[in-house]
Amino acid sequence: MHHELILNDGRSIPQLGLGVWQASPQDTVTAVREALQAGYRHIDTASIYGNEEAVGAGLRESGVSRELVFVTTKIWNDAHGKENVRPAFQKSLERLKLDNVDLLLIHWPVPRHDLFVETWKAMIELRREGLARSIGVSNFTSAHLRRLIDETGVAPVINQIELHPYLQQREMRETHNRLGVLTQAWSPLAQNRALANAEIERIAAKHGKTAAQVVIRWHLDNRFVVIPKSVTPSRIRSNLDVFDFALDASDMASIATLNRDERLGPNPETFGA
Ligand SMILES: NC(=O)c1ccc[n+]([C@@H]2O[C@H](COP(=O)([O-])OP(=O)(O)OC[C@H]3O[C@@H](n4cnc5c(N)ncnc54)[C@H](OP(=O)(O)O)[C@@H]3O)[C@@H](O)[C@H]2O)c1
Repeated sequence: MHHELILNDGRSIPQLGLGVWQASPQDTVTAVREALQAGYRHIDTASIYGNEEAVGAGLRESGVSRELVFVTTKIWNDAHGKENVRPAFQKSLERLKLDNVDLLLIHWPVPRHDLFVETWKAMIELRREGLARSIGVSNFTSAHLRRLIDETGVAPVINQIELHPYLQQREMRETHNRLGVLTQAWSPLAQNRALANAEIERIAAKHGKTAAQVVIRWHLDNRFVVIPKSVTPSRIRSNLDVFDFALDASDMASIATLNRDERLGPNPETFGA
């Protein structure tokens, strides 16, 4: 059932994971436990979400071995720079009660501070030490990616960006393919706004699946890593039940026409004080 993609550092990542942004600590414990017991093997958190402790607790409560679960966390905007990355990351590990994470991301590039290259160098050290098994970025533009690679020679394994049927990110996807960086989709359901779409509903009815399952399948069929968030156990389970069907060429073509370059989140060029 589990599909994994290969990262450019030779490791692999489960293509479908659970996101926990805006989930309270209490909901996060339950959601992570339920997800892992249902078969998820990938959890996406961040220090800014305020639920890393809960992710760790859910993981332990699930009874699933830590080694079988891919855990991602992120360096927040106030922890960029040589001196700040390591202590911020150590606190994440302490909250998670883990010895390492599978993936550590720079959450936002914060171009105004221009510290993301320095931050990246500190993360390369953390990877050498095995504390972050893989390292990547989030919300980076093509120019930001280019700079990381030019100035350090180390490409991120992944760039986690806002991506859903209403924001299909064709240019970023081309950049990623050229650089060997995987595309990871955040707000993959457009925070559930993509689910009430007539075309998605038509495709869902045709396959006997739900709108959410169609949108998640669209991400998988595009080779994105996808991390739908839910704290509702029945949705957590149904969002994983997407490995028994595939979208055909006409479904993919029809969803491609839904793009309207509509961002729900901030613009990476300007976000972060
Ligand atoms: N790197 C970044 O800057 C960044 C930014 C935003 C998000 N993220 C990551 O991406 C993850 C996902 O993004 P997101 O949380 O913004 O939005 P999302 O996954 O697109 O949508 C989540 C919303 O959809 C609902 N939902 C989930 N499954 C559903 C289903 N089967 N049917 C109907 N509704 C459903 C959820 O409700 P319930 O929970 O109430 O069930 C929640 O309201 C986040 O949790 C986070 O891990 C990263």
